Amino acid sequence: MIRFDDVTKKFEDETAVDALTLEVAPQQTTVLIGPSGCGKSTILRLIVGLEQVDEGRISFDEQPLDTWDIGDLRKRIGYVIQGGGLFPHMTARENITLMANHVGWAGGRIDERVEALRELTHLEADQLERYPAQLSGGQKQRVALMRALMLDPECLLLDEPLGALDPMIRARLQDELRDIFDELDKTVLLVTHDMQEAAHFADTVALLRAGRLVQAATVDDLVERPADPFVTEFIRAQGGGPSLETVGEGRG
Ligand SMILES: Nc1ncnc2c1ncn2[C@@H]1O[C@H](COP(=O)(O)OP(=O)(O)OP(=O)(O)O)[C@@H](O)[C@H]1O
Ligand SMILES: [Mg+2]
Repeated sequence: MIRFDDVTKKFEDETAVDALTLEVAPQQTTVLIGPSGCGKSTILRLIVGLEQVDEGRISFDEQPLDTWDIGDLRKRIGYVIQGGGLFPHMTARENITLMANHVGWAGGRIDERVEALRELTHLEADQLERYPAQLSGGQKQRVALMRALMLDPECLLLDEPLGALDPMIRARLQDELRDIFDELDKTVLLVTHDMQEAAHFADTVALLRAGRLVQAATVDDLVERPADPFVTEFIRAQGGGPSLETVGEGRG
């Protein structure tokens, strides 16, 4: 669905993404993980055209990204930016329906879609009429997700969609999100820096370090067949020896 061929992105003399080759398989969940600053958000920003590659090529649905009409691309890719990125001066409903209004959906169709997504994400009806500042962190995350899902994109890019939540709400939303992904059969590219969360969602985990891909594999393979000592180091740093087993229990 999304393909990176030898993609490099530099900011002045800092290389944020370094010769990345990676395939994001259709209807699967691929998780980008790695230490802060390793290039995860930049990779998503390159896909949606907020940054341009310096070298290499990105393709979406087997077509080079630079041949895509940006409007068409936006309809097929839903994007939740790090921190949610809701417009503070708009209610939840206005945030969610912005794009649908922009592309000219009829009012009835918009209302129906909002209602379906509200049920899917378990948001209360009255919460839709509130401004982001009047919602809890978890409610804001749901609104951001509803906004990304509004046009029913085939592909979802989620940048730490559960960041900054307390552990109990986070665990509940993790379960709900995974159900949503399974139910909707989307191609998902999700960023986290939490290995437990990666294990919970991922068909494939791509571990990055300083802009470079260290290994892209199933969680079991990362644990049992690490391509580099950094893989084991990273997993161990996330919770010590015994949790290697717990990590492997995430999916399936
Ligand atoms: N617009 C920019 N200008 C200059 N440097 C940037 C810019 N955006 C990102 N960088 C740098 O590129 C590197 C990768 O940043 P990125 O935001 O992709 O990291 P990340 O893996 O998402 O980190 P985090 O886990 O903290 O969100 C960082 O060193 C960052 O400082
Ligand atoms: Mg980031």
